[in-house]
Amino acid sequence: MSSRLIKPLSAQIAGLVLVYSLSLNGIFPPLGVFWLALLQGSFAAIISQLLLSPRWWVPIHLFFLPAIVGAIQLQIPSSAYATGFVILALIYWSSFRTQVPLFLSNRMTVHRLAIWLPDEKPLHILDIGSGTGSFALTLARLRPDWQIEGIETAPAPYALSRLLARKLANLHFTRGDFWRHPLGNYDLVYAFLSPVPMPDLWRKARREMRPGSLLVSNSFDIPDQCADEVIAIDDRRGTRLYIYRIPGTKPKNSR
Ligand SMILES: C[S@@+](CC[C@H](N)C(=O)[O-])C[C@H]1O[C@@H](n2cnc3c(N)ncnc32)[C@H](O)[C@@H]1O
Repeated sequence: MSSRLIKPLSAQIAGLVLVYSLSLNGIFPPLGVFWLALLQGSFAAIISQLLLSPRWWVPIHLFFLPAIVGAIQLQIPSSAYATGFVILALIYWSSFRTQVPLFLSNRMTVHRLAIWLPDEKPLHILDIGSGTGSFALTLARLRPDWQIEGIETAPAPYALSRLLARKLANLHFTRGDFWRHPLGNYDLVYAFLSPVPMPDLWRKARREMRPGSLLVSNSFDIPDQCADEVIAIDDRRGTRLYIYRIPGTKPKNSR
């Protein structure tokens, strides 16, 4: 079992055991199943914090069993769960493996980057993990003279991005895994991923990208690498764009 599952499972099981033993001992008056589930969720949430799990586990523990009990009581047809599962799978696809969820670049970030970039020649830009295309669509509309590409694994965001880009001649989306996509043709590669892939991404970029080209990461810096420039965006999220210029020599070891 993955070590990441041990703490949450322990908290859930300990919550169940506590509620079961307290009910057997008659510590609290007879309660309905939903209230017992809520009590279990509260115990699980407290135990998760005693086990030093991150704060965001609290609502998950609190509502996990009550949500199951509530759904059973509401007699929701099983086809609704199957439909929900398929929809979520099409949107999030392999997020559990890549540890890169779907969230979108905002317009302000794209505008700031477009203003910052050099204007001497048309640029060829790739968004790795292009999601629904928010970054690439905004940039392609702002700069019709630049060639923009996006690559995305998840079918639903990819399909939506293709639909939204159908009238833009300078924008092209591909469905695929960016780890298998060569980066040597681009002046700039844009990434809005998560902290997890950043070290491997830097190795890939150094191996494949041309010296002098740019790797721009929204929000997630590359550990142990000093960014050549950091653009602070004045948005609610406090977005930062980390800009890395690919150095002249390429590393010999590959991923
Ligand atoms: C945080 S979203 C960013 C969306 C878009 N770039 C933007 O800025 O609005 C990250 C996207 O990367 C996709 N992704 C993660 N790993 C990928 C991979 N190996 N190849 C292609 N897409 C990937 C995810 O499916 C998700 O849609």
